[in-house]
Amino acid sequence: MFDLPALDTALTGTIFADKLHFAPVTGSTNSDALAAARMGAPHGAVWLADEQSGGRGRGNHGWLSAAGEGLYVSVLLRPEIPVAHLRLLPLCAGLSAAYAIRAVSGVVIDLRWPNDLLVGPRKTGGILVEASTGKGVSAFAVVGIGVNVHQSQFPEGLDTPATSLDLEAGKRIPRQELLVALLQSLERETRALADAGAAEAIPARVEEASTWIRGRRVEVHGAQACTGVTAGLDENGFLRVETETGMITVQAGGIREAV
Ligand code: BTN
Repeated sequence: MFDLPALDTALTGTIFADKLHFAPVTGSTNSDALAAARMGAPHGAVWLADEQSGGRGRGNHGWLSAAGEGLYVSVLLRPEIPVAHLRLLPLCAGLSAAYAIRAVSGVVIDLRWPNDLLVGPRKTGGILVEASTGKGVSAFAVVGIGVNVHQSQFPEGLDTPATSLDLEAGKRIPRQELLVALLQSLERETRALADAGAAEAIPARVEEASTWIRGRRVEVHGAQACTGVTAGLDENGFLRVETETGMITVQAGGIREAV
């Protein structure tokens, strides 16, 4: 379980101070954050659960969220940044999570575009960003982060095989410490989005943190489904893929190793 008073103390002075909502169990912290965002919840509000009964992943997948095993957290951002930079937010969230995981557990994350958290071929976390550019409500984005921390077994037949930080690090990784590092890292990285120079540097930083961005033969899933070899990111963080019929710039979706 989380030590909530200690969490409050650790978050003093951050944009998350006094804005943490904890539930022992909820359907989905992203759904809670979205509902609250529509009711006017503030920038920096955080929804944390010990268990999710209906955790959601990208592409209409579920996210297994057993009690006490993982980190299930969603953050509401109402960033005052150009909409063009908002496109970089999912990448920014991936970088934040990778840095925090490395700092707390020593585990080195390979970011699979746009923001899967992999260790070798196995997935240890994922990020679901749900944004509204405003129509009646001011623009906001909910950044939902799920990290497998203590799990020791996983169901068969997962789309990508899974792992957990404990398995990878060979020791028990404290969820509380990971959460604090994650939020601090997210605050630092999203602040960078407001700065044109720092925002421009994000695609190159993602490329450094990923073996998937260049020279990898992949299948692209989603509206721009194709197969080809990855050829870097553009300034929006979109993925270039060299296919047999030419270069495609993939704006949304996901990638898998081509078979
Ligand atoms: C993915 O890789 O498909 C994204 C998984 C995102 C899971 C997190 S757990 C916290 C937040 N609440 C949800 O329902 N989903 C995200």
